Amino acid sequence: MTKVEFDKVIDRYNTNSYKWDEAKKFFGEKNVIPMWVADMDFESPKQVQEVLTKRAKHGVYGYAGDYEEYYKSITQWFLNRFGISIEKEWISITPGVVPALNMIIRTFTNPGDKVVLQSPVYPPFFDAIRKNGCHVANNVLKRSSNKYYIDFDDLEIKLSDSRAKLLLLCSPHNPVGRVWSREELVKIAKLCKKHGVLIVSDEIHSDLTFINEQHISFLQIATEEKVPTILCTSAAKTFNIAGLQISNVIIPDEFIREEFKNTLKANGISKPNIFGLTAQTACYKYGEPWLDNLRHYLTDNYLYLEDYIQKNIPQIKVTKSEGTFLAWLDIRETSMSSNKIYTKLIKEGKVALLPGNRFGEGGEGFLRINFGCPRELLDRGLKRISKVLT
Ligand SMILES: Cc1ncc(COP(=O)(O)O)c(C=O)c1O
Repeated sequence: MTKVEFDKVIDRYNTNSYKWDEAKKFFGEKNVIPMWVADMDFESPKQVQEVLTKRAKHGVYGYAGDYEEYYKSITQWFLNRFGISIEKEWISITPGVVPALNMIIRTFTNPGDKVVLQSPVYPPFFDAIRKNGCHVANNVLKRSSNKYYIDFDDLEIKLSDSRAKLLLLCSPHNPVGRVWSREELVKIAKLCKKHGVLIVSDEIHSDLTFINEQHISFLQIATEEKVPTILCTSAAKTFNIAGLQISNVIIPDEFIREEFKNTLKANGISKPNIFGLTAQTACYKYGEPWLDNLRHYLTDNYLYLEDYIQKNIPQIKVTKSEGTFLAWLDIRETSMSSNKIYTKLIKEGKVALLPGNRFGEGGEGFLRINFGCPRELLDRGLKRISKVLT
């Protein structure tokens, strides 16, 4: 898709869209610009639309089988994009990354164990830990010069607790937009190895780094450092197919893999959704040029947002980001709480962001904004924010 196509504003009302159709119910207001939940307002690549249309026209939607092309498209993608070889056998198909994280926690912990995360972070991480009977061990990220870093001294304290069993790594990080460096990832691997903590790397945003940024898959680090790892990945964010509910869990270690597969069986998860399977295969087979254009578009959107806010709403500071389509806004200079400003923006500005306090410790005084939309929509949203706050 070219820039012009990403510029196209698409009416998403009446499509059962969580982001658009549910907005009225959630916010109690009509015509709110939804810049909250993390899906984008772009069409998926044309080839994906074509294969889905063809499959839908077939008219028979029985159980899926023969996933050869599907697996091949994933292994090829990992080789092309991240320079790593993965084996087909390492892949388990799951109905979403969040369901996978929940099942991973259930498989590799006992009630009362601790799972380490790094807040502010994607809220379902907390639920996945707590709803499965574990405790959150929070290695809160450090903010310095408008950017986020890992507090490695504190990470070691959290990992050295004998009840700490897993580390949930968000890589790249939602919401702070860090694309972790090789040095940071190696340090994490070494610490987890030293303390026998299994690393679960959620890399759902891995394809969406800004131009000139390169994601390093934890699989590569794990191989070099000889540490076991579980990688959660998906084309859902990359190609805007989250509603098709398909994701992949990649586990090189045979023993760990078998344990996870047993949990899949115990939950009755065997065959994937036929549309998810069809779409994801096409995304990985044909989607590279589209993705390269998207990364340019998102990088430009981020720069536009940063520039707009700097010039028009200077009391907000935009966190330095390296990827994703989510920006983390520091609103502490406004002296309003995250919830207050969030409500004010909905009521007075008709624009919905997410309040930072939902992302755990370190989130109060921040808002998350989704800029994965045509520039015109982004501009409209920013103008509404500016009107309320200036
Ligand atoms: C870090 C992270 N993991 C997982 C998800 C959701 O994954 P899924 O829709 O496949 O459950 C999101 C969505 O925003 C996310 O940001």
